[in-house]
Amino acid sequence: MENFVIYNPVKLYFGKGVTGKIGKTASGIGRKALLVYGKGSVKKNGSYQQVISSLQSENIGIVEYSGIRPNPVVEDVDAAAALGRAENVDMVIAVGGGSVLDSAKYIAISIPVAHSCWDFATGKTKPGKALPILGVLTLAATGSEMNPLGVVQHNAEKRKVGFGHHLMFPRASFLDPAFTTGVPANYTAFGIADLIAHALEGWFGEGDSTLTDRFIISIIREAMDYGPKLMENLHDYTLRAKIMYAATMALNGLTAQGKKTGDWGVHAIGHCLSVLWDIPHGASLSVAYPAWMELQTQRIPGRIGTLGKEVFGLQSPEDTIGAFKNFFSKLGCPVSLGEAGIQMNEDKQNELLEVMALNKVNGMVHKLSQEDHQLLVRQMI
Ligand code: NZQ
Ligand code: ZN
Repeated sequence: MENFVIYNPVKLYFGKGVTGKIGKTASGIGRKALLVYGKGSVKKNGSYQQVISSLQSENIGIVEYSGIRPNPVVEDVDAAAALGRAENVDMVIAVGGGSVLDSAKYIAISIPVAHSCWDFATGKTKPGKALPILGVLTLAATGSEMNPLGVVQHNAEKRKVGFGHHLMFPRASFLDPAFTTGVPANYTAFGIADLIAHALEGWFGEGDSTLTDRFIISIIREAMDYGPKLMENLHDYTLRAKIMYAATMALNGLTAQGKKTGDWGVHAIGHCLSVLWDIPHGASLSVAYPAWMELQTQRIPGRIGTLGKEVFGLQSPEDTIGAFKNFFSKLGCPVSLGEAGIQMNEDKQNELLEVMALNKVNGMVHKLSQEDHQLLVRQMI
């Protein structure tokens, strides 16, 4: 087992009505908040109203920035940071899914300095200070609510980059599963695929940490037991709560303890699909994970086989990959680029390979050669 440190300063509020506490939390931080959200779902699921009422009850000033896109882009994040800087806000409050939370993290480190978030994402500048971040989650998927990571994309450069820093931990996150009961079927399924993919990135990481492996298997089994039930009952609070809890635990450090590193090669591939064709994050992973496992079948048959045994009671790596593919399909996630709406031809294959090279797609443990990139692209068609 590797040495490790557990540090997670996020105060997580979970359950019905918890967002009512955000005003009190904000009043312990300052007087004025930049409220960041997406394209409007927050006004239909009740989260926006609850946040506004709670902040108003504590006389917190509110400046709004809306319109954050799924797969957030540099321009939006920089514009929001400029607004927050001009308005001299004391904190950033994100209400939405992973895209809004990730944006809020970059906004919080960008406001104190006049730098583009891209400088932080690409390592050109290190964060020195950050405004406190509060998160209100409306979509179970990324785990951003309890981690210090943020992913942002630069369309002109065709790059999507993840970056993490301890200043990007939310100070508190509010998780009310009731806000997620209206998430449409497709994004519900993508969220389940994403949380399973996070657990898998840990599973295929490096290091002997058996308890962590058991956490990983439990998270995957929880998602596999209740995900399909949720797809049949999208408005069920209890099922939403189970998936929300699983998604948060899948990327808050729990699945990494005692390991040297996770792999994250599949996420790197998924980011290329998103930056090129705007494929939703979870859908990019349900396409890329089976393809990646197929590439690895001969290289790590034992690891894939053990996964299959623990999750499905199967023996062979081939059957395991088939079972994952089948599971994602039954949820309603694409398992090929064709199913994701991208009809591949030679030009598109070359374009994808170029973007994969540009983004230096690789695993941290299982290294991917140029030939592997080609095999993966063919496998995903
Ligand atoms: O824009 P709005 O109106 O808010 O609509 C959103 C968006 O269209 C909608 N939505 C959110 N909550 C809803 C809802 N619709 C109905 N009811 C609700 N309650 O869902 C759509 C997708 O939202 P988005 O935030 O993009 O989804 P997700 O949470 O999957 O976030 C994806 C982003 O997170 C990054 C991804 O790369 C991607 O950019 N990731 C962040 C990670 C992290 N910080 O740790 C790790 C992940 O691996 C991932 O890379
Ligand atoms: Zn992910």
